[in-house]
Amino acid sequence: MSAAPLPTAELHLHLEGTLEPSTILEFAERNQVRLPYRDVDELAARYEFADLSSFLDLYYANMATLRTAQDFADMTDAYLTRAAAGGVVHAEVFVDPQAHTARGIALEEVLAGVGSALAAAPSVHGISTGLIPCVLRDHSASDAMAMLEGVLRSDVQVLGIGLDSAEVGHPPSKFTEVFDRAGAEGLHRVAHAGEEGPPSYVWEALDLLGAERIDHGVRSLEDDELVARLVRQRTPLTVCPLSNVRLRVIDDLARHPLPEMMRRGLVVTVNSDDPAYFGGYLDDNMTALHAACGIDDSGAEQLARNSIEASFLDDARKRVLLARIDAAVTS
Ligand code: HPA
Ligand code: ZN
Repeated sequence: MSAAPLPTAELHLHLEGTLEPSTILEFAERNQVRLPYRDVDELAARYEFADLSSFLDLYYANMATLRTAQDFADMTDAYLTRAAAGGVVHAEVFVDPQAHTARGIALEEVLAGVGSALAAAPSVHGISTGLIPCVLRDHSASDAMAMLEGVLRSDVQVLGIGLDSAEVGHPPSKFTEVFDRAGAEGLHRVAHAGEEGPPSYVWEALDLLGAERIDHGVRSLEDDELVARLVRQRTPLTVCPLSNVRLRVIDDLARHPLPEMMRRGLVVTVNSDDPAYFGGYLDDNMTALHAACGIDDSGAEQLARNSIEASFLDDARKRVLLARIDAAVTS
């Protein structure tokens, strides 16, 4: 595979999942937050997950170190720095506001910090950006609506609304009203579905939430009618291969269904999800896919093109970025 990563859009990235162990300890020290680990090694030793919820326990616990707008800005800027080095030219990133407001951090503090780093990204990193606050699906619908109302009142511009956290037992149907309201306000709508949850959750995300992209969606392959629908509508799936292996959604990267998904005509993109927890950033996912699944130069090119087409960018910016892919593959 070519040495330099292709220009790519990252569409499935949780900002809080970019907190590296060293950053967690640094923020804990600067904010005087006590953690149950003494050093980076003790923390890193906990990065062994049985499933999504065992990861989420650590992911939420480590958020205790995020206190100020500056912390959120620094976290976001560190991600953008690393992403730019890995070929990312556009990033539509998730944040989990309820995980912060639930522990007493003001929504404005979160949005102002993240928003300032994202706004500076085009000039600082050459990356265009969009912010997608996510509903925590294991909290109530009224909590979700309160978060959405707060986001809509904020001066910080958001691109859309998402749905994440513990999937099984929390179907998309729980949040129909919240997503209706977001859609009426002109926000894009995306949802995690079909990661650990069944294909019926993907149907619900499409039919009840108006989801324009499905995050993960790997379990869609269990339902041929659903695959046909996703192919026909060209609904993108934001797949996260290293995440799937680390959360045991897929037992071995060599058996990841991504090549089959591409063969079946699904609009698949590759993303890093929570790169600090799952063993790598977007370019690391591509390198691993090449080694384990034989994704070659033409597969990598298709995935890069899909990522631009699956983004919420306008057509003019999409054309600019697709032309950069053309230039990269012919150079
Ligand atoms: N799935 C659901 N919720 C999440 C994830 C994920 O992979 N990462 C962070 N929140
Ligand atoms: Zn995710």
